[in-house]
Amino acid sequence: MGQTPQTSYVTALRFPFLTRFYDRVLAATLKEEKFKRLLVQQSAIQPGHRVLDVGCGTGTLTMMLERDAPEAEVFGLDGDADALDIARKKVSAAGAKVTLVQALAFDPPFEPGSFDRIVSSLVFHHLTRAQKALTLEKCRDLLAKGGELHIADWGEAQNILMRAAFLGVQLLDGFETTTDNVNGLLPELIARAGFRDVAETHREATVFGTLALYRAAAP
Ligand SMILES: C[S@@+](CC[C@H](N)C(=O)[O-])C[C@H]1O[C@@H](n2cnc3c(N)ncnc32)[C@H](O)[C@@H]1O
Repeated sequence: MGQTPQTSYVTALRFPFLTRFYDRVLAATLKEEKFKRLLVQQSAIQPGHRVLDVGCGTGTLTMMLERDAPEAEVFGLDGDADALDIARKKVSAAGAKVTLVQALAFDPPFEPGSFDRIVSSLVFHHLTRAQKALTLEKCRDLLAKGGELHIADWGEAQNILMRAAFLGVQLLDGFETTTDNVNGLLPELIARAGFRDVAETHREATVFGTLALYRAAAP
């Protein structure tokens, strides 16, 4: 397990040429609307909140956050210019008020205490353990007092069938970044970064394994 955060990252479907198919694959395989809706609901965004979607990819969740709370200020951050291009087109077509920024999750270009909510979906399984830890520390620092972190990602397999199903994701995205997820380590890593009241709030069985939702409060 590499312990040094690297500057590289994995694109949405591992290979850059697959990014353009990402939205269709996700909608067809992962109950995307359901789990993203749950994540938006548990984020409980209020008017005036500043919200950051870390690893926003093609912007589907970012736009759902904006639609749910039009009086909030919503930002999306991603390292991949191609995914952000797709997001920009979707944002523009929908007339959504969202600011998209190209940056790495563990090097976000924002001041400490800038956000009331940080939300992230299907990103942490792309990060090594060291990158997960650094990204969580950055999220902690970016949150204002009373701020909250809400994550959806691959979680501890509910049963042997879900564990077997997850091998498909591991073969695509690699074992180094995904193993801590399926072993259920994300809550511990979130707590180690200094967050309080870390909780798994939901588990969803999918054709590729168990998706989990987490919430945590800024220290
Ligand atoms: C599987 S996609 C998820 C996209 C979106 N959040 C969603 O739920 O549909 C993972 C995204 O994380 C981004 N990503 C992976 N590692 C990253 C990093 N270190 N910094 C910024 N973005 C990263 C990828 O470019 C990709 O867009």
